[in-house]
Amino acid sequence: MLRSLIATTLLAFGLCGSLAAQTKAALEPVQPVAAVPATATTPGVQSVNIMDVKPDADADPKYASQTNAERTKVQPGNNAPMWRQVGAGVTGFSSLPKSEAPEAGNLIQPFVQYPGSRLTNAGEAWRQVRNNWIIPYGGALVLIVLGAIALFYWRVGVIKLHGKPTGRMLERFTPFERSAHWANAISFVILAISGLVMAFGQFFLLPVMGSTLFGWLAYILKNAHNFVGPVFAVSLLIVIVTFVRDNLPAKGDLNWLLKGGGMLGEHEVKSGRFNAGEKALFWGGVFVLGLVVVASGLVLDKLVPGLLYERSTMQVAHMVHAVSNILMLVLFMGHIYLGTLGTEGAYQGMRTGYVDETWAREHHELWYDDVKAGHIPAQRSQPLPPSQTVRV
Ligand code: HEM
Repeated sequence: MLRSLIATTLLAFGLCGSLAAQTKAALEPVQPVAAVPATATTPGVQSVNIMDVKPDADADPKYASQTNAERTKVQPGNNAPMWRQVGAGVTGFSSLPKSEAPEAGNLIQPFVQYPGSRLTNAGEAWRQVRNNWIIPYGGALVLIVLGAIALFYWRVGVIKLHGKPTGRMLERFTPFERSAHWANAISFVILAISGLVMAFGQFFLLPVMGSTLFGWLAYILKNAHNFVGPVFAVSLLIVIVTFVRDNLPAKGDLNWLLKGGGMLGEHEVKSGRFNAGEKALFWGGVFVLGLVVVASGLVLDKLVPGLLYERSTMQVAHMVHAVSNILMLVLFMGHIYLGTLGTEGAYQGMRTGYVDETWAREHHELWYDDVKAGHIPAQRSQPLPPSQTVRV
């Protein structure tokens, strides 16, 4: 008896529920939507771009040509025609000056059609390049290079001095050269860390920190990135001018490259003040990539006068900046490794300015010969008083 009473009650509730749902559906305006091309992102999950929704001429023949005023009469509150125009890139009114905000009247970037692809919103196309290409492949490259460096360190270890240090020191870098180098290196490290958090932080920090803390961190690092960028730009130019002379190609460079510098053998291939590997890094990493990174960064910071800062300008600048940065980062990961853990005595040279003559002979024999022959002074800067001399 009790069981049948419960069953009847449940049935009644069920009927009421479905009746209510049917009545609600009948009262709601029918959306004339059809011909929706669906794109599958994850297997089993269908995602639809709202801009692809086409009017259904059968359901409402006037749908496509209706003005907003007509539409509001038929379906009060539905201003789809206006939004369709906004989506198509129709310009509205904005009180912002055109010179500073050329696209302020356009809420949504107009559609573009790239050869061989479907009609897309340009902002969406940029987003897909960022999320489906730059982030996964760039992240994978950084991890692969990190792994390769770790493997190299594990299998080869530190490149140690073979001979005994003599205690006689040669000046490898003047205080000016070191200041330029460290200003550049420190700003690079700040930019690299803040850039990596902005690009990849959502994957490895957000789940650990939570959105509030991560939001603050990303906000602080983004501002640090914007302000340190110009410091990096200026110090990069000084580094280029300071070191360009000794990075010009010389006779033994090809031989050095062909033999891999002899880095893994007993003796390194003879080189001048900088070897061919350092020169390749200078021209490829510092000069070409450095200037591309700086130029695209200045566009993103809106610091290039006379440029029209449209959305498309920023999207192109962003993609160039991200790709060149990832390439520069992996090159400099190698440089930082060799300049610290990888080569005994190299870091001290850049920190104090001096290297032992044994170090100079083993790593840069032609430079050592020039210093010994008196072609290059062993002490180029004003020597410090003994009380201020840094011990190596
Ligand atoms: C934490 C980061 C860095 C460390 C630890 C580091 C370390 C070093 C060391 C130890 C040397 C001396 C190598 C030698 O004596 O032959 C050196 C040279 C040099 N570094 Fe760095 N560096 C760093 C970042 C950078 C950055 C970001 C740049 C430029 C974008 C840079 C550009 C140079 C240049 C131009 C030289 C002179 C050698 C050459 O011209 O190839 N370094 N670095």
